[in-house]
Amino acid sequence: MKLIFLGPPGAGKGTLAVLAKEAFHLPHISTGDIFRSNIKGGTPLGLKVKKILDSGALVPDETTIEIVQDRLAKADCQAGYLLDGFPRTVTQAQALDGFAKPEAVINFVLADDVIVQRLSGRRVCKACGASFHLQNLPPRQPGVCDNCSGELIQRPDDAPEAIQERLRVYKAQTEPLIAFYRQKGLLKDIDASPAPESVLAALKKALNV
Ligand code: AP5
Ligand code: MG
Repeated sequence: MKLIFLGPPGAGKGTLAVLAKEAFHLPHISTGDIFRSNIKGGTPLGLKVKKILDSGALVPDETTIEIVQDRLAKADCQAGYLLDGFPRTVTQAQALDGFAKPEAVINFVLADDVIVQRLSGRRVCKACGASFHLQNLPPRQPGVCDNCSGELIQRPDDAPEAIQERLRVYKAQTEPLIAFYRQKGLLKDIDASPAPESVLAALKKALNV
């Protein structure tokens, strides 16, 4: 299955991808995770994109498309993929059609006030990247990752100004993809407001899995 998770920042795409990749046996490809691991590793790509991510703006299409095209050419993606956070512009979606046409697009639907609550309370593990939430998904021990005991930190782009910028960018550049994929008959809307297990159940139903 060639699957896209589309939706505003903080809608739970990453959280659901962790559950869905097990359920559907698909490689999970998150462009945000790829950029963050390059930033952490201090690679040339990481140095190039750090300021962009911190501000909440988008990395240029050319760079992002090249990374995804390379990743989808790998052996583990030949039977299918779960793309999380790509495409994010119409240009990216048109490019993807040229090298690995998606079969279904899940549109995570969530109100702005809930988005802001989710993003401002999110904490991520500095070591393994696992995601928690101060109220919704608290770690067993405050500030400590349940999986690897790493330190939990706030993403720089979860600061209030960067959250507003990401929402603005989403509405201007990514939201048009809803119409793009609806017109192709690929879009499936999912209410992203219930607990993750319920969202997963709705996802399985939408995909007849
Ligand atoms: P990216 O990492 O993709 O960020 P995003 O789209 O802003 O999405 P988030 O990761 O913030 O949210 P999410 O939907 O994954 O929510 P999560 O599951 O964590 O991109 C980061 C940056 O990289 C971009 O701003 C851009 O600069 C760059 N970039 C990436 N892709 C790009 C592209 N294609 N083109 C150009 N630039 C690109 O959940 C959020 C919180 O809510 C968590 O705390 C979680 O515990 C909680 N939560 C999740 N689900 C639930 C639930 N069901 N109930 C209660 N709480 C929940
Ligand atoms: Mg994410």
